[in-house]
Amino acid sequence: MTVSTGTPRPTRLIVAITGATGAIYGVRLLERLRAMGGVETHLMVSGAGWLTLRHELGLERADVQALADQYHSVREIGANIASGSFATAGMVVAPCSMKTLASVAHGLSDNLIARAADVTLKERRRLVLMVRETPFNLAHLRNMTAVTEMGGIVYPPLPAFYNRPESLDAMVDDTVARVIDLFGIAPPVSTSWDGLGKDTEA
Ligand SMILES: Cc1cc2nc3c(=O)[nH]c(=O)nc-3n(C[C@H](O)[C@H](O)[C@H](O)COP(=O)(O)O)c2cc1C
Repeated sequence: MTVSTGTPRPTRLIVAITGATGAIYGVRLLERLRAMGGVETHLMVSGAGWLTLRHELGLERADVQALADQYHSVREIGANIASGSFATAGMVVAPCSMKTLASVAHGLSDNLIARAADVTLKERRRLVLMVRETPFNLAHLRNMTAVTEMGGIVYPPLPAFYNRPESLDAMVDDTVARVIDLFGIAPPVSTSWDGLGKDTEA
């Protein structure tokens, strides 16, 4: 049998920014992936995502699109990432609104974000939803359960305090690094916990 030794495929990661507060997570994720190198990023931003990017960060469309290797409109349902035959390492929705969570949980594929997430799940690839809302109602909780049952990872961007972050930036960076590490596409980038040392029984 002959095995093809053609050009190796790039590691591709799909990133979607939706209209939950915390647009910084999507932006920092794209910046970090670009700094790491070796990852081809595919970006989508929902209509509400564009609002929060401008309101929270003062960013316009061109600034954000430039952070990714490929940008896709959420209406571009014929995009490469709409098909399972386009190999990717998976997808992160950062941040993920309750509306997009609901679309994914119910397999609606009503825009390219929900379709790409649907494809990611059906191909059994990694899907990480950085859901953001508080408090949760029962629909939110049920939708998170449904996504988890389908193999997705629900990852609310809740900061850890035990590493004593010195700034909001440090908290965001730590969260983003942990999300990247969930994909195993590069050596770990998040800070590893070495334990509290001696005399740590509670
Ligand atoms: C400033 C702002 C902050 C918002 N924050 C949240 C939030 O944290 N979580 C959420 O689920 N929706 C939030 N929303 C509402 C969503 O943007 C809205 O439900 C929208 O329809 C989501 O659509 P999308 O998933 O296509 O982006 C916020 C809206 C605005 C304008």
